[in-house]
Amino acid sequence: MPVVTAPSEIDLTVYPDECDAFGHLNQASFLSLFERARWEMLARGPGMDVFTRHGTWPAVRKAAINYHAAAFPGDVLRFHQALTHHGRTSFTLRQTTRRVKDDALISTAEFVFVCVNREGRPTPVPAEFGEFMGAGSAPRSDARRITVNGVSLAVDVRGEGPAVLFVHGYPLDRTIWTPQLEALEGWRRIAPDLRGMGQSDAPDLGYSMATYASDLAALLDTLGIERTVLCGLSMGGYVVFEFLRRWRNRVSGLVLIATRAEADSPEARRARDAAANEAREGGARVIAEAMLPKLLAPGAAGVLVERVRSLIAAIPVPGIVGALGAMRDRPDSTALLPTLGGLPTLVIAGGDDQLIPVSQTTAMAAAIPGARLVVAPGAAHLPTLETPSIVTDALRSFLGTLV
Ligand code: MLT
Repeated sequence: MPVVTAPSEIDLTVYPDECDAFGHLNQASFLSLFERARWEMLARGPGMDVFTRHGTWPAVRKAAINYHAAAFPGDVLRFHQALTHHGRTSFTLRQTTRRVKDDALISTAEFVFVCVNREGRPTPVPAEFGEFMGAGSAPRSDARRITVNGVSLAVDVRGEGPAVLFVHGYPLDRTIWTPQLEALEGWRRIAPDLRGMGQSDAPDLGYSMATYASDLAALLDTLGIERTVLCGLSMGGYVVFEFLRRWRNRVSGLVLIATRAEADSPEARRARDAAANEAREGGARVIAEAMLPKLLAPGAAGVLVERVRSLIAAIPVPGIVGALGAMRDRPDSTALLPTLGGLPTLVIAGGDDQLIPVSQTTAMAAAIPGARLVVAPGAAHLPTLETPSIVTDALRSFLGTLV
């Protein structure tokens, strides 16, 4: 059978009978439209009978809908469907609705399904459905789902050996580490999507550096890992500092990339709030356009720009808003730096980083006793992707000193 790529975008028109007396699309009608978009997607793919053909039915176990903006009769809404979890008998679909004419984010939702037979017993998710939904996302299929602190995280776990835990920045996901995850054989490489980012669950509330750090500690517990090398990029570095304050004895080595120890200035805090409002109003795409010129050096290859753009555009708005609040409220970590003597540390800076200037990263390295510093020329804020071999080589040689 040919592989069919999931038609992940379905356009549906809002009709007057779906609206309230003020002409707003009614919240209960949203539920129907989300369902209509799912069936329409199946109709254009393996058929609406893809479940019944296999003697099973997808029963909704959980529905969580966020309403971001009103929609009106005549609006054409674009429903985007993505499979964010595929278990043996259950799966999760994330659906996002935008108005076609102005690209406004209208609603986001997450539906958890359990496949059941006529007796109501859980039955396997039809492979045909999984293949259909996964056809466009094959490179990301290496994620495991691990629930920590009540939140399901997507985690890339590869290889055997001493552990290295990779913590991505904002507003990004674990795929910024792909070149390093692929290359660093001999180590157990673990890269989660932080809560609210990538394919992890994105609760509406509950974001702070303490929560992110506690998710990482719980993740290590679940994987049976007592000690790890901790590697954080930018906001990932802020999380790493919080982890060190709480669980220093679990850290065997430290890698800080394009990050800083200082807290936000009052002006930076105000900018976080303004960005959160922009995300609420305009969605992740607005954040992507604002961040791209700061994340990547001006000469970055088009394919890399597009990859990072679509990565950011897929980050759930609650995760963006939550991360902005967590960064705004993070404590200053400069006093921690001189206490890190004895902990092998590598610091990597992007030579052309505009977000966190190389001078700031260099000063941070100088304040950590014995830290090595590597500057990646030509990279801005994402050296793991912009100059992957410089970062991988620096990591490989640093990790080599730890064994
Ligand atoms: C990041 O890359 O994680 C953020 O840009 C850091 C920040 O905004 O402070």
